[in-house]
Amino acid sequence: MTIINGSGDFRAALGSFATGVTIVTTRAADGKDVGMTANSFNSVSLDPPMVLWSIGKNALSQPAFATADHFAVHILASDQEELSNRFARRGEDKFAGLDLERGPGDIPLLGGCAARFKCRTAYRYEGGDHDIIVGEVLEFDHFEKKPLLFHRGKYSALAGVSGAEFADSSLGFLLARAQFAVFKDVRSELERLDISLDQYFALAALGAKSMSAQDIHRHGSFYDRSFGPADVEKLEERGLVEGETERLDADLKLTAAGRQTMVRLLAIGKDAEATLLAQFEPWEGQWLKSAMDRLASGMPEVPVD
Ligand SMILES: Cc1cc2nc3c(=O)[nH]c(=O)nc-3n(C[C@H](O)[C@H](O)[C@H](O)COP(=O)(O)O)c2cc1C
Repeated sequence: MTIINGSGDFRAALGSFATGVTIVTTRAADGKDVGMTANSFNSVSLDPPMVLWSIGKNALSQPAFATADHFAVHILASDQEELSNRFARRGEDKFAGLDLERGPGDIPLLGGCAARFKCRTAYRYEGGDHDIIVGEVLEFDHFEKKPLLFHRGKYSALAGVSGAEFADSSLGFLLARAQFAVFKDVRSELERLDISLDQYFALAALGAKSMSAQDIHRHGSFYDRSFGPADVEKLEERGLVEGETERLDADLKLTAAGRQTMVRLLAIGKDAEATLLAQFEPWEGQWLKSAMDRLASGMPEVPVD
């Protein structure tokens, strides 16, 4: 057992407790933004929602927090170590050059963090050389970011990437989900019309130019589609394509009904696209398309005879 003989050992023992890192901000009575790095943050109550943290009585920020009606706690993300260091330096102009939002009582809010709690000061308690501040959470945000950790006086980040996190952030998975969202309405219409994806691919190809079933099959195989004689037969039966359908090397083309069906499907696709892109700024939509185009440029070209 260690008898407490000085703050060094006690501090080291406390350092065994791994924590996250927060920056707590407020606005002083003179209108100055004030903030400091703190890992004494903890949850207190779910109903009403309450959190606490403690501030050293010697901190230059102490007088501001001792009278502030509101404060914000920012749980830092793993890439915010530099910001943590900036707010751990005594008295500097810690907010210089930062993009700020404002919360209740005009408190400064920082961006890029893992979570953020906007609080009303509920209680203050004496706690030895610290004051314990309890806040009622008025609003909070949280973001899909890994937290910055602090343990034995050093920063660290969560080790490894879980399967779920990888799935959430892997480009292939995101693209597949995005494709599902973009194509959802067209897919429902295809189901209603009883047209398979392979047949839709063929109709789209024939919408661009006449080609044989063989050619459609060859093009389709580049996109994991497998268009075959049974599909030709079905499309002909439905009156959507015409030509010498029993010959796989003879050109097929869309009938008037086939063209009408394609026009309707394309319009549904365009509407779905416009609805999804409405959530973006116009430049973001254009950027997204150009980024997709650049990614797709890695696809091998379909060989031309
Ligand atoms: C990871 C980390 C956690 C900290 N936690 C606290 C804390 O909970 N309470 C506190 O008073 N100081 C804490 N500090 C120290 C303050 O951030 C530091 O004293 C800062 O200089 C105070 O700024 P001020 O004097 O301008 O108010 C922590 C520092 C670091 C690096």
